Amino acid sequence: MRALVASGMLVLAMHSGPAAAQASNDDGAALLARSGCTACHGADGRGTALAPGITDSSLDLERFIAAVRAPRGTMPAYAPGVLSDDDIETIRDHLVAVGPQTRPAGNAQAGGERYERVGCYSCHSNQGQGVMHGPRIAPSPIRWERFTWYVRQPSGQMPPYSEVVLSESELSDIYAFLESRPQPRPVGELPLLAP
Ligand code: HEC
Ligand code: HEC
Repeated sequence: MRALVASGMLVLAMHSGPAAAQASNDDGAALLARSGCTACHGADGRGTALAPGITDSSLDLERFIAAVRAPRGTMPAYAPGVLSDDDIETIRDHLVAVGPQTRPAGNAQAGGERYERVGCYSCHSNQGQGVMHGPRIAPSPIRWERFTWYVRQPSGQMPPYSEVVLSESELSDIYAFLESRPQPRPVGELPLLAP
């Protein structure tokens, strides 16, 4: 149902090129809605099951524009004729002002236990360093908004974890655990590889 709404709004967005191009003076909230972004990213940009939250300022302007021009997954590309770089900057300024999803306080120790119990370790290994079955996810996990979206709706080999299996606060514990893993030592410091 949501996907249908999304594609309907997209058709609108795609066909309103000239009108949208004049929208540079509009405020970011209006541009966000008119471009159909809200259909997937939510009215406030904090994400839905269809797309991650995009209100996190760690997504810098350059990466933000790149994501809109050359998107991944189910997101459509927006050409400069539809949304100028200035429009995208206006949208991003609005989102950053909205501010990111609040993340429940995480407990790293509880998170380590949870990480084992729900089986993350079996694919991402015991410290999140990644192995053949799953990529590295620690010590610098991807930003929280994207992390929680991905764990609920993974797109590849990974099984989805619903809130019933893993609550938001338990997931935050896991995130704290991943963040607290030691940084890998620089290659030059590994005794076997040192010159
Ligand atoms: C049809 C649904 C849909 C629409 C419409 C849509 N997006 Fe997205 N967007 C997504 C999905 C899904 C992703 C995550 C893609 C992935 O990495 O798998 C995404 C990712 C992004 C990202 C990158 C997030 C990251 O963590 O790297 C940005 C920025 C973004 N969208 C901005 C926008 C803006 C601005 C608009 C409107 C101009 C928009 N999106 C419209 C679905 C949508
Ligand atoms: C059955 C194996 C498997 C399990 C179990 C698993 N993952 Fe994954 N995970 C993957 C694979 C494979 C990927 C790479 C993309 C894909 O195929 O989904 C991935 C990707 C991710 C990513 C995205 C990384 C990125 O850079 O975009 C995150 C975050 C993640 N996993 C966290 C977790 C957490 C947290 C758990 C436990 C709650 C978990 N995974 C359990 C296999 C797994």
